[in-house]
Amino acid sequence: PNAILVAPSLLAADFGRLDEELASIEAAGADWVHLDVMDGHFVPNLSFGAPVIKALRPRTKLVFDVHLMIAPVDPFLDMFAEAGAEHIHLHVEAGPNTHRSLQAVRALGIKPGIAINPATPAEMIAPVLDLVDMILVMTVNPGFGGQKFLRSQLNKIRTLRRMADETGRPIRIGVDGGIDPETAGLCTEAGADVLVAGTSVFGLPDRAAAIRSLRGGAVA
Ligand code: DX5
Ligand code: ZN
Repeated sequence: PNAILVAPSLLAADFGRLDEELASIEAAGADWVHLDVMDGHFVPNLSFGAPVIKALRPRTKLVFDVHLMIAPVDPFLDMFAEAGAEHIHLHVEAGPNTHRSLQAVRALGIKPGIAINPATPAEMIAPVLDLVDMILVMTVNPGFGGQKFLRSQLNKIRTLRRMADETGRPIRIGVDGGIDPETAGLCTEAGADVLVAGTSVFGLPDRAAAIRSLRGGAVA
């Protein structure tokens, strides 16, 4: 199986000191940084967009894992490519042309991921599995940090792990929302190999210890 990767979500960082916050997780051993983009339409909240991501790009070597909670996505893909996104996750619920959007992400030289909301069944992404490098399973309803992990998503993670393995390609499965050392263990046991965590990393003063305990909770 793939190594377990930790991707702290900048949504829980101090927005007044983003460069220091980035440096702290890079020094603490984070693998990627997860960047949550919200449009107040697909989700009931706003966060930050491509200009902020572009400004942060030269500040760190961390891989930029961009989670687009926006609809439509297509008009903005170029902008996020130019801003330095290395992965782009778009939602299967975000529009009728998910297949085309994922192809467009790949054509920009970015790794495509498909994100899936708690109420959406695993089967919804079967038709686009051949286009993605990663599946991002939402373990809360997207829009806010600090929500409670939804255990009901564990079976979906298992189903998606099977579906991903059947492709014969190394597709990663990320989990996003309410991930702490305990829920990290449940998710990795079910087949997840990327842990996105906001509150349980940025909420603690010692980020290295926070990331270590996420990995420690994980079942490799
Ligand atoms: C929720 C975002 C998450 C969020 C997770 O819409 O996609 O990435 O930052 O925050 P925590 O880890 O606090 O649940
Ligand atoms: Zn996210």
